[in-house]
This record gives sequence, structure tokens and C-alpha cells, in this order.
Amino acid sequence: MQSLTQPSTHIISTGSAVPDHHIDNYQLKAIIDTSNNWISTRTGISKRHVISSEESVIHLAANASEQAIQNSMIDRHSIDLILLATSTPNDLFGSASQLQALVKAKRAAAFDITAACSGFVIGLAIADQFIRSGTYNTVLVVGADVLSQWVDWSDRTTCILFGDGAGAAVVQSSTRNKQSGILGFELNTRGLECNQLSIKYIPNENYPLGNSRHFNKMGDRNGHYTTLQMNGREVYKFAVSEVPQSILRCLSKASISPKHIDWLILHQANQRILEAVASKLEISYEKVISNIKFYGNTSAASIPIALNEAFANGYICNGDIIVIAGFGAGLTWGSMVIRWDILC
Ligand code: ACO
Repeated sequence: MQSLTQPSTHIISTGSAVPDHHIDNYQLKAIIDTSNNWISTRTGISKRHVISSEESVIHLAANASEQAIQNSMIDRHSIDLILLATSTPNDLFGSASQLQALVKAKRAAAFDITAACSGFVIGLAIADQFIRSGTYNTVLVVGADVLSQWVDWSDRTTCILFGDGAGAAVVQSSTRNKQSGILGFELNTRGLECNQLSIKYIPNENYPLGNSRHFNKMGDRNGHYTTLQMNGREVYKFAVSEVPQSILRCLSKASISPKHIDWLILHQANQRILEAVASKLEISYEKVISNIKFYGNTSAASIPIALNEAFANGYICNGDIIVIAGFGAGLTWGSMVIRWDILC
């Protein structure tokens, strides 16, 4: 139960960006043993956008953020915190500081969240905690990934799925209406199944950790990352069984019945997953936001891109109950219930 003095957390604007360049299923057919029919019917994907060698995850994140900041009409110097959910950073020490510099939000603290496709939901949950505690007033939450840089383009079981993109939301504290904004969330992790989906670091066996690693000759490599490895069937089964239960628990904590959901915005991993989750929740498919056909799986970016497009295209109205749910590597998954009340 929320206290009368505690602020609530409201999304006040959104933005999104994808690279100009895209690859459609027919172009993939030219490089791997696949077909447009297989990809469309098994995944719902027709094309995916990929960055050029001049672009990076930070360019996409900055474009999406700039859009969200301009739509919010806030002074960028009022942003207290920037949370960048990405698993494909420019810099392993974190890329959020580069984003902070690019959007010129000088006053904001900034850090990365590495949680694959659950990253944006986790980012919003962290922002909600900072806002409810009174620590911060305005937070920029960004989900951005460029998995095109990490897939093996000769592996037909993974490369067909992923695309690059970024989505952003400015969230702010409000005491205006405590019955709206973020109404609740729930987050989960099943670490024992981390191998189902991973991009692992493999140390060079000639230079074991803590040994000659620090003294290697110039030109020797300490190790390398693998390309994205996924057990698609297991991840599919996990998503279809766990995500509906997580949503139901989250709704129950917020005392909202599934029949009152206006929009379901799931991580865009596979069209069949979206349909199966909606069916388990007994939600009409008309309430499911899907743009996977145009972007593929953009990991942490998929929910905020879908949210931004649904709002910009006039689907979402004030008062609507929106459920978002992310799931993926970790394994991690999480849901959030939001009553939309953006100031227009
Ligand atoms: N084109 C043609 N045939 C293919 C392709 C392809 N691109 N890929 C696989 N196949 C073949 C397989 O080799 C297999 O052939 P076989 O029966 O002769 O062995 C057959 O198609 C069926 O393969 P499955 O893996 O069983 O196909 P499935 O229907 O499970 O679809 C998919 C695979 C699309 C990967 C699905 O399992 C899926 O979407 N899983 C979930 C992925 C996901 O949700 N990831 C989310 C998180 S992402 C993140 O966190 C970063």
C-alpha cells in the first residue's frame, strides 16, 4: 500500500531510434540456408535494422533519448539519473557516461544495466525506486542494443532473429495522481539456466587468470567473447510458461484483473510467443502491441520502441492499463503494470 506522502513514478515522454540500414528475409536467404517463409511463419519477422560501421549503440541511444527529452519539454539539466540498459556496450566499463555526454545532461549520474531483454523493465523498476524514495525527481531510462555485432551471421538459428535499436522514456516523480503511473512490478532470475542464452568470455588457456595474464607479450590476446549462443527451444518454453505467471502475480499485487489490461507490450522476441502469452492470459490479440515484423528482436530496446510507437500512433490513451514484460538471457524476466497518464 502506497503512503500518502510518497510520490509515484510517471512516464512523461518516450522516444526511439533504429538504424537506416535494414536487411530483409530475402537478403538473408542469399547468405544462409533459410527462406522468407520459414522466418515469417516461425518468428513473425520480415526485416531487421542493423548499424553501419560508423554507428554504435550510443548513437542509437542518444537519438532515442534526444527524442524523449524533446517530447518531455523538460530542461535536460533537470535530469538526475540516466539508466542505460544494454548488453552490447561500447565500453565494458559502461557506456551510460558516453550517453550522458552526448545528451548534455551534465547534472545526471549515469550507469549501465546489463540484463539483456529484461533490461528496460529492470531500468524502469530501478527508476521507480529512486523516485519513490525521494532520491531523484527525473530519470531517463534507455534500452539500447546492437546484437547484429554479436551474432554469427552464418548461424541461421540465431542471426535471423536480432536487430539493432534503442528506445527511451523520461520518468518523473508526481504527487498529482497516486493511482496512476507505475503501479507495480516484479522481477525474476533463474541463474542456473544462464547457459541457455549467452555471450561468454573465454580466457586464453595459455594465459590463465591470475597467472602470466598480466605479463603477456604485446600482440597476445587474453581471451575473447563468443558470438551469441542460444538454445531457442528452451528459451521459447521458458518465456511461454514464466511470463504469463509473472504478469498475473504483478497484476494481483496491484489488484488489477487481466481483463482490465488495455495494452500488452511484451519483449518482441517471437510473434508466436506474443500470441501464446496473450492466449494464456485470455487477452484478445487486439490488445497486443507487436512491431516484431519490422525490427526483429532488438533486446533491451524492443519494449521502449513498441511503447513509443504505440503512443505516437495514438493507440495508448490516458487512463489505459499497460502491462510490459521483458524476458531473456540470465535467465531473467520481469513485468510491470502502468496506468498511463502522460500530460498532453
Ligand atoms: N531457416 C530454416 N530452418 C531453420 C532455421 C532457419 N533460419 N533455423 C532453424 N531451422 C531449422 C532447424 O535446423 C530445425 O531443423 P530440424 O528439424 O531438421 O532439426 C527446424 O528448423 C526447427 O528448429 P527449431 O529450433 O525447433 O525451431 P523453432 O520453431 O523452435 O524456432 C526459434 C526457433 C525461432 C529460435 C524459437 O525457438 C524462438 O523464438 N525461441 C525463443 C528465442 C527468444 O525468445 N529469445 C529471447 C531472448 S533474446 C535475449 O535475451 C538477448
